[in-house]
Formats: sequence, C-alpha cells, structure tokens
Amino acid sequence: MRKWPFVVGGIGLLGALAFLPWFGARRTRGLHSVMPAPPPYVFPRDFLFGAATAGHQIERAQPSDWTAFEQEVMRTGRFGTLGTGRPKPGHIHDLGRWPDEVRRAKTNHDALYAQDLALAAQMGHNAYRFSLEWARLFPKEQMEEADPQGVAYYHGLLDAMERAGLTPSATLFHFASPQWLWQERGGRRGWERDDALRHFERYLRAVAKHFGGRISHYCTLNEPMVYVYNGYLEGVFPPGERRGDPSQVAGVVAQLLRAHALAYRILKEDASRRGRSIAVGFTQHTRAFHPYRNWAPLDRLTASLIEQAFIWDFVDAVHTGTLRMTGTQQRQEIPGLKGTQDYLGINYYGRFYIKTSILHPLRFEILMHDPDDPSEPRSDLGWAEYPRGLLEVLAEAQRRYQLPLYVLENGVADAADDDRRRQRYLVAHLRELWLARQRGIDVRGYFHWSLIDNFEWAEGFGPRFGLIRVDYQDGFRRVPRPSADLYRRIIRTGITHEMLQAVGLASDR
Ligand code: FCB
Repeated sequence: MRKWPFVVGGIGLLGALAFLPWFGARRTRGLHSVMPAPPPYVFPRDFLFGAATAGHQIERAQPSDWTAFEQEVMRTGRFGTLGTGRPKPGHIHDLGRWPDEVRRAKTNHDALYAQDLALAAQMGHNAYRFSLEWARLFPKEQMEEADPQGVAYYHGLLDAMERAGLTPSATLFHFASPQWLWQERGGRRGWERDDALRHFERYLRAVAKHFGGRISHYCTLNEPMVYVYNGYLEGVFPPGERRGDPSQVAGVVAQLLRAHALAYRILKEDASRRGRSIAVGFTQHTRAFHPYRNWAPLDRLTASLIEQAFIWDFVDAVHTGTLRMTGTQQRQEIPGLKGTQDYLGINYYGRFYIKTSILHPLRFEILMHDPDDPSEPRSDLGWAEYPRGLLEVLAEAQRRYQLPLYVLENGVADAADDDRRRQRYLVAHLRELWLARQRGIDVRGYFHWSLIDNFEWAEGFGPRFGLIRVDYQDGFRRVPRPSADLYRRIIRTGITHEMLQAVGLASDR
C-alpha cells in the first residue's frame, strides 16, 4: 500500500462524488492507438536512436551511497522483497545470491565498454545515453581537481563512442552520489547539506572543463521524483528514509531544482565560451496514471492529482521558476530556475492504477497492474504494459511546454529466452512514437532501456532489461537478444508490416 496523503489532502468532501455513476471504456481494450496509415512507419534520418544505461548499474563500484548501501545489505543479509516488483525498505532482492565479483563489477562494463559500444554500433544505433558518476570523479571530499583516473576513464568511454559513431547523451546524476556527501554536516546529510551545491558545482566545473568539448547532450537529473519518493518516502533507495509527510521532502526537491539550474548555467556558459551549441535538460519518470475503477470519481481525481504531483510539478517548476507541490502548502520561488530546459526527457514504463477507498479518502493504493485481469500484458516486475500511454504522455508534455522531447528510457523486464515480450514491446512503443511525430509532436530521439542487462537497484540482478543479455555465469559474456536485431532493422527501414505480423500486432491497426 502506498500512501500519498498530501495529494489528496483537503479533497475529502469530493469523495462524496464517488457515489455518482461514471462509466468509461474497458481498459484492456485500447492498449494501442489506431494508426491513421498502413506501415511502414519510418523515422527521419537525423532521429537519435540508441539505448540507455547508468554508471552504477553496469560499472565497477565507486565509493558512492549505493555502494555503501549494498555493503550494508550484505553485512546484514537483507535480501527480501515484498513481492514481485515491490521492493522492501532497506533490502536488495536476492543480492546475496550473486558472486562477489558480480556485485563489485556489475556487468564488467569498465573492461568491456569498447565491445559494448561496438555492439551498439552494429545494432545501428547513432546515440548512447550513459551517466557520469560524481563519485568516480570526486571519490574524496577534499579534492580540488577531479581524479585523473576518473577523467581518463570517461575520455576512454567517449573515445569508444566516437569510434562507434554514437552521439553521447550524458546524465550527471543518476541516483548515486559520493558516500562522503552523506557525512552529517550541521545536522544534515546528502543533498540537504548547506555545502551540497558547492560540491556539486565543483563536479560540474570538472565535467565542463574535461568533457565540455565532447558532449552536446546533457541530462542533469535522472527521474528526480523517483529519487525523492524511493529514497525519502518509501525507504527503498539510499538514504532509506521514510519521512511520512511529503511536505518534509520539499527541501530535497527544491535543492534538486537548484542543482539543475546550476548545472544548466555552468554547462551553457562553458559551451558559449567554446562556441558550441548544446542541449541541456533533465528526464522524468512517467506512467499513465489511470483510475482503477473508471466509474469512481475519487479514483479518477486522485489519479490525476498523482500524475500532477509525480510527473508535472517538477517540470512546471523548471518551466515557471516556482515550485508548487500538489497537495501541500509548499510554494517556493527558485532564483535562476525559470526556463532552464532546452528539452524535456521522458522515461516511460507503462500504466499504474489508482484505487481509493471512500472509507479512507486520504489513502489510496497504486496498483502496478490490474489484479483482476490476467490477460493484461505485464513485465517480469509486474508492470502493466500500455504502449498508447507513451503517445499520451508525449502529447501532454508538448501541450504543456512546447519543448523538444526525447524518450530517454523505455523498456521492459523480460528474462524469457524467446525474448518475445521485448520484441512486441519495442515495436508497439516505437509505433506510438511514430504516431506522436506524425501528429506534430517534436520528439527527437528514442533510447531503449537498456543496452545490456544490469543491476536494477533494490530489485537486484533479477530483472533483465537488456537488448543484450549478460551471462553472469560465464565471465559476463554478452549475448544479443533477438530484439537487438529487430531494433536494428526498425532503425534502418522503419516498422514494416512483416514486423508487426511477427510480433502479433498486424491486426491492431
Ligand atoms: C528507471 C531508472 C533506470 C532503471 C529503469 C528500469 O526508473 O531510471 O535506472 O532502473 O527504471
């Protein structure tokens, strides 16, 4: 049960509306849009096609909060879960089952990146989303300059991207931060420390200085609301807090907004000194939030408030310069924030259902799939698939902000050998993306999550998201899945009738 009382705070009266009848379409129909034209669905030449990863999930452990969390989990044997796709606070599912070397090296990407990126190139990609790790560049607090080994590592990685013809898209904060930042200072830890932004600025200046001439796409923050929600409310990510009242996380949200604005300013100033044009934005985790019962107004109302709180509040803040947290009294102007996004990143992972109770109007459940509908397609993590939602989210983002959009993550946990679910998922979502472009939505790139199988945070190594399988039993051997080749063909020819047929979507038009 997930509770976000702040979202529904003050709307108890409206609960009475739930008694009114309200009818709607059955949800398992309409998973896909009706296409206006027959295939092929072709993308423009300059469209960015690639895959996404994050350093901590694929690379050798750095001295970060996540590494410290994993070590603590190992020490205390906290390997539990609350169920499929429901992480248990303070635990990492099945972490103890994996050999030390896997836990430390993750996928051994440090040693294998040239091979991984060459594979991406063979798969027809022209771009690659990866993350720089703050803890790799600043493993210790008292460092004026970035660690030379860290700098050399990223130059090596960028060289490999260049050789492979991949345009780099670099994320600056993808959930992990240096462990030293979590030493308490003045009663505060991590992002809430008074000096956090000064340290972040040092990291940003090092990034600009060393790599500013080589990177033209930056994503400052990955999914800030997932970070805040999982780390400060649910306790399933470091720092593992459960603050209970969402207005108590406003300080973290505001600080992340300041960090974003700072990154935008420093990177843009550096680029203009170099006479380069760069795009700086951030990416948001999105889902289609739907009422569990279409006829229940309280489900509908709560779903739309959660969508606003979880997806749009943060983007609105960057758009307007003022943070207003839905369902709380929090309202703060953040100097220098307004308009600091050249694009908006969309990570899209399917549909959630919101179920309220008229007896407890301030509580609600978030369901990851419809428990009453076994025919609903869902991933190994129990996440309901809803391809049309990608179009809906893109359309909403366009309507609100009129910014260029990039899908910076979209993918599915599918460990099955035949890889059929992933193939269908890929075709279905890219078809929605084609339709979005057709409708004039300015989407400029698609990055599949993920290039290779990896460490899925509190879910451990179980979920398999890779276009390329990693054989952890056999020296981290890379084995491309059939969807890797399907993606290559889509990039080359667009989505054809044969492809739709092969994945069972031909009749959906
Ligand atoms: C996103 C994260 C990414 C990965 C996918 C499955 O929320 O950004 O690191 O864990 O989910």
